Amino acid sequence: MLDKNFLWGTATASYQCEGGWNEGGRVPSLWDEYLHKNNLENGDNASDHYHRYKEDIRLMKEGGHKAYRFSLAWPRIIKNREGDVNQEGIQFYHNIIDECLKNGIEPFVTLFHWDLPQYWEDKGGWAEREVCDAFVRYAQVCFEEYGNKVTFWSTFNEPRYYVFSGYKIGNYPPGVDDTQKTIQASFYMMLANALTVRLFREMKMDGQIGIVHSYAPIFGVDNSLETKIAMRKADNYFNNWILDTAIKGEIPIDMLSILNEKYDLCFMKVEDFEAIKQNTVDFVGLNYYARALIKPYTDGETILRINNKGKEAKGSSKVVVKGWFEQVFDNPDSTYTEWDTEIYPQGLYEGIMQAYKKYGIPIYITENGVAFYEDVSGEKSVDDQGRIHFLNAHIDAILRAIEDGADVLGYFIWSTMDLYSWKNGHEKRYGLVGIDFENNFERKPKSSFYWYKKVCESNGATI
Ligand code: NOJ
Repeated sequence: MLDKNFLWGTATASYQCEGGWNEGGRVPSLWDEYLHKNNLENGDNASDHYHRYKEDIRLMKEGGHKAYRFSLAWPRIIKNREGDVNQEGIQFYHNIIDECLKNGIEPFVTLFHWDLPQYWEDKGGWAEREVCDAFVRYAQVCFEEYGNKVTFWSTFNEPRYYVFSGYKIGNYPPGVDDTQKTIQASFYMMLANALTVRLFREMKMDGQIGIVHSYAPIFGVDNSLETKIAMRKADNYFNNWILDTAIKGEIPIDMLSILNEKYDLCFMKVEDFEAIKQNTVDFVGLNYYARALIKPYTDGETILRINNKGKEAKGSSKVVVKGWFEQVFDNPDSTYTEWDTEIYPQGLYEGIMQAYKKYGIPIYITENGVAFYEDVSGEKSVDDQGRIHFLNAHIDAILRAIEDGADVLGYFIWSTMDLYSWKNGHEKRYGLVGIDFENNFERKPKSSFYWYKKVCESNGATI
């Protein structure tokens, strides 16, 4: 029987749901700047949660949710590099948190879900130490303001995705391909994580702090030694540099020594390693969409983004790292979603078991979900049986892992409602609640919303 405090919830992120991009004293984030400048579909209005958060939280309550995972927008809270606080922004998140608490919903708060203020991007963004220090000051403001209301804090959402997409693949802002900067940004984020955990402890915060990772459990094509070596390198690339660093306080040494052969690591200081060692997280949030199936590297250049149809990836992407490993993305035995993501619930079961065995700390599945193209314009709500099937299989995997001893304490579906999906705009829909973006942002719960209500209210018994 599942613990009665298990957190059943759904998740969003500030830039993807709020809109109101220039309201309430919010200053531009790097996404506003990049999307406006390149004339790309943007999140100016997103799901209009900024104006409709009460309706959204009422729907969460109606849907039986026990928790809501969302992020605070740094550009709403801190106005400039001098650190001046925007009271209107502060109040906005008090309103959201209060509304959650009033409705019996636990706020599960992320400090950074990718919307870096542009005034810090102008200074070189996450590739610079200054930004790392500024993040800790921003975190302090948040802890002081919301600390007596919020129990669950996460420092970062998916550092790997943010850093690799922005600095290596170049499909996210700042849109460059620069390995040295990729290494710096990765390191400074992990250092900021440790320094924020240290602050959390120094401030004697009454709560728990973790990090959220885009988890890709590693599977091999066979049992050969070559495959095992490739798997280790892939695990470092996809997972270990975040999980080992945040949970054990150790950056994988084999990865550092490979990087050290070609890149300048002198910016890393001895005291940084000490801070990382001493300040580890209380829990880990794992976002699971699919596994990574790995084979040994054969030939060709590094490719970080190609889908199983050989085109530029829309959703997930195949990864080849020259000399390290290749990811198999055209497995004839697998099925893929409309957005090129492999459907593999067993990977969640095995991934949880591996992570729990290795790290032994509480786990929250902070994102899991599936995207479809859906037409929400009609009178009738969307009957998303495919999503129900997908979610059911993944929750079943989690319940099996719990039965087998893993300490999983919560589950969040991505996403609460349809959102702005970064470079995939508004047509990549994950929501339990449909949003008619063309028609006054009308909220239309899908079949999955009613199905999940039963899951939450029965504490998983209906799976
Ligand atoms: C990862 C990210 O946290 C979120 O922002 C994104 O939209 C979803 N997963 C879906 O790709």
